[in-house]
Amino acid sequence: MGSWSANDPSGKPVAGRSAYLILHNTSEVVTPNAEGSAVLRYPKGAIVFRDGRVLEVGPATELSRRHPDARPLNASGKLVTPGLVDCHTHMIFGGHRAGEFQMKLAGKPYAEIAAAGGGIRSTVAATSAIKDEILEKTLANRLERWRSNGCTTVEVKSGYGLAPLRELRLLELMGGAAIRVPVRVHRTALLLHALPEAYEGKRAEYVEEVRTSLLGEIHRRGMASAIDVFCDPVAFTVEECRAVLTRAVELGFPIKLHAEQMSRYGGAQLAAELGARSADHLESASSEDWETLGRAGVVGVLLPAAALTLRQRLPEAAMIRASGARFAVATDFNPGTAPAQSLMECAALAARLCGFTAEEVLLAVTWNAAKALGAESEVGHLSPGAWGDAVMWECETLEELPYWMPAVRPDTVFMRGADLALPAVERRVWP
Ligand code: NIG
Ligand code: FE
Repeated sequence: MGSWSANDPSGKPVAGRSAYLILHNTSEVVTPNAEGSAVLRYPKGAIVFRDGRVLEVGPATELSRRHPDARPLNASGKLVTPGLVDCHTHMIFGGHRAGEFQMKLAGKPYAEIAAAGGGIRSTVAATSAIKDEILEKTLANRLERWRSNGCTTVEVKSGYGLAPLRELRLLELMGGAAIRVPVRVHRTALLLHALPEAYEGKRAEYVEEVRTSLLGEIHRRGMASAIDVFCDPVAFTVEECRAVLTRAVELGFPIKLHAEQMSRYGGAQLAAELGARSADHLESASSEDWETLGRAGVVGVLLPAAALTLRQRLPEAAMIRASGARFAVATDFNPGTAPAQSLMECAALAARLCGFTAEEVLLAVTWNAAKALGAESEVGHLSPGAWGDAVMWECETLEELPYWMPAVRPDTVFMRGADLALPAVERRVWP
């Protein structure tokens, strides 16, 4: 009865029965396979969690027979999927830009709003006006909101600091928030987002400082697990992005790009050339760009909230399928282009705007999104050995996930095989 003893003779702690449980009586368990090449459906399936990981997934009758000692947990006929992965957010920021949104709807272009003192720089000012502890707590609360919306892994980008010291501050606060909440946080340093005011007229100097001292400092202090840039006519050129990303790769960082957002500019090609994990946005990408990403194994990340806010089109599912590229869907949560706080809501929009099947949608917010973070061996699926991060949804079938709007709510979210309590989502999470 090893599972009952508190410690084994070697003195190593052994998890008790609470860390050995079988989730049964589901309507179905649906998960990508370990390779992300198929979606497996187990009607009336069960999952066995042990010591935080998935031990087995399969038909409930078989699993109950094989695991009589596991603590049973009744899923009450609900759908169970892996915990969702939001692979693109900018959720460390202060303030909001609701006024700017009105200007956008009235037809003022993004670039003009930015030139008139709005845009990224206005959020940079609002973010630096907020005290460290408030910014950190706000981020932690947001991460909790994401968890209650079904996300167990969340990427957070810096990028509203711009000046090197301010970017380091954001990365540090992200680390502080991450250790406070039961959500897996991937820190990305978004280093070329906009030119800081202090560097007006000194563009080359800024890019060089980012490329040399800032990247080096982030590397030395282990502050980020990936580096991102905004490759766009309103932001930085392909050459500027290449300079920073090449150095990042030399330092051993995985890289990603905001590419082909406002116009087709060459970011997708650069992503393929440098072996990026993902190329994100792609509203203006061509089918050739998608084919290039497919050949290079770069995940294309769609951000429907940003596309809708900027009134842009998303690509057709048929074109993406033909390209052979993997695609993920993410919130892009940020105050300028995507004030979107539910990944499943974004996925439901993508299903409608692009024409994705329910299985494609599931892959896009689980395995493919995990791949965009380089985490697909651990999360994004419920294969044996993966982390026991799962969601029991307030619905019965996979097809309901992209169907209902507002999105289906999680009943229970498992983190490392534990059904932790969820915060109420209705409260405001920003001061
Ligand atoms: O992902 N494209 C660049 N960055 C953000 C928007 C930034 C902002 O407007 O504050 C995005 O859409
Ligand atoms: Fe973004």
